[in-house]
Amino acid sequence: MATIFERNTALREQLAAKNAEALLGGGQDRIEKQHKAGKLTARERIELLVDPGSFVEMDRFRTHRCLNFGMADKIVPGDGVITGFGQVEGRQVFIYAQDFTVFGGSLSEAVSQKICKIYELAMKTGAPVIGLSDSGGARIQEGVASLAGYSNIFCKNTLASGVVPQISVIMGPSAGGAVYSPALTDFILMVRDTSYMFLTGPDVIKTVTHEDVTMEQLGGAGTHSTKSGVAHFAFDDDTQAIHGLRTLLSYLPSNNAEDPPHITCLDNPERRDEKLKTIIPDQPNKPYDVREVIRGVVDEHYLFEVQESYAANMVIGFARLMGHTVGIVANQPQILAGALDINGSDKAARFVRFCDCFNIPIFTFVDVPGFLPGTEQEYGGVIRHGAKLLYAYAEATVPKVTVILRKAYGGAYCVMGPKHLRADLNFALPTAEIAVMGAEGAVNIVMREEIAAAQDKAQRYKELVADYSTKFQNPYKAAELGYIDEVILPEDMRPRFCQALMLLKNKRDDMPSKKHGNIPL
Ligand code: HXC
Repeated sequence: MATIFERNTALREQLAAKNAEALLGGGQDRIEKQHKAGKLTARERIELLVDPGSFVEMDRFRTHRCLNFGMADKIVPGDGVITGFGQVEGRQVFIYAQDFTVFGGSLSEAVSQKICKIYELAMKTGAPVIGLSDSGGARIQEGVASLAGYSNIFCKNTLASGVVPQISVIMGPSAGGAVYSPALTDFILMVRDTSYMFLTGPDVIKTVTHEDVTMEQLGGAGTHSTKSGVAHFAFDDDTQAIHGLRTLLSYLPSNNAEDPPHITCLDNPERRDEKLKTIIPDQPNKPYDVREVIRGVVDEHYLFEVQESYAANMVIGFARLMGHTVGIVANQPQILAGALDINGSDKAARFVRFCDCFNIPIFTFVDVPGFLPGTEQEYGGVIRHGAKLLYAYAEATVPKVTVILRKAYGGAYCVMGPKHLRADLNFALPTAEIAVMGAEGAVNIVMREEIAAAQDKAQRYKELVADYSTKFQNPYKAAELGYIDEVILPEDMRPRFCQALMLLKNKRDDMPSKKHGNIPL
């Protein structure tokens, strides 16, 4: 006997018509306007992100309940956001994509409830949440109900932090308090020229501070990926951003109870890269690109750098060893001689904490002359910011492996993943210089009287500097004290790191029981 669906074609037609209406969002004209602005629509973005045919939309027919400003007559199914779940490389993700063609993607009570609904499912099922932002902000017609909607999302962002990865892609406007949901997530990707994030726009700034600034200068992808550090990645268009997002996801586990995904590795763990013997210069003050060292060590020479153009004196990113995701933190001698500063400390601290949340082992490459001196740094609170990095390393319980390539001086030695902050394996190259400070500075302070008493002061100074260098500017003092487990040759870094990763595979460590620590923010 035929089922009701076979007998009653009207039921099918009704559903098909409702679907067709919803799929058109704000209508063909607005879709064309979106394309003309160089942007994809929310649905096109989702299709590009997920494995073909895997997206399942939820709440397609959800509508707002607003009666103000003639809104009762303006009902669009879905109401400004598309939510649901799909797969990326066969792994489940939850997605919300703000639909700028519907009320400018503005956030209504209903939109907020749709987003919160997928957050709840994501946390219960342990899958990442991806937010594709393109919105005029709070739905003006809904007033405080819209503001409440934002706060409800902020709360979900916070509760989900450290449970599932959260990634925001800014693909249009994100203004006012709306910026805080992306800011609470783990990574922000932006699109050049079509996206911007700011708390107060150019007009308000002009009125209050009389500054002239364009939207792009104020909150474009360039600004946030170089000056403010708000964005982690900048891409040229929507398509590139989605590809970048897929790459980022490939390094991450789905939740905090999972290990990161493992891929087949064709790169030999025993590979000894000859080039590694030549990258670090003989002269201690000569710069080099630490990324060349990192690439010589990791699988397929590939580093997926995060915040590449912000605080470039610190390099962070994801790579793989034997097909396993690892987090890389490194000083960059090419910029500010690799010195630690406010922004570099913040950048690395947040990354270390992300890795620790999601079971990603941390490999640290050290070449740091110390903290950057100066009033700008001190007045900016470098003490507080440097403390974040110390805190992040000390609290991290994931496998931690550190290699000192060249300089590790003073407080910077203490910060950059030393044994004393619970690192598991600490290596040094023979070129390592581990000391409280450089030879000249040290001799000037502690040998002042001896130099003053010498007949040939310049000669005595030279002798003392040479003596200090021989005694302290090497890895062997630290090795004698057990702070360095092994002094290795540069070409041995990859085999040693791969061994370390296997050794530490089942590492278990924890923190004293507490509600939560109080990281110096
Ligand atoms: C309702 C909105 C809207 C909003 C845009 N629209 N923003 N509807 N609430 N916040 C609607 C427009 O009426 C228009 O509808 C459509 O979306 C497209 O907008 P346009 O202005 O035509 O587009 P464009 O020229 O590209 O300009 C985009 C824009 C601009 C720069 C975002 O729309 C704008 O300035 N919007 C207001 C931004 C704002 O002040 N938001 C509130 C921020 S305060 P039609 O029907 O014509 O297509 C905030 C508080 C959050 O968000 C607090 C959280 C803590």
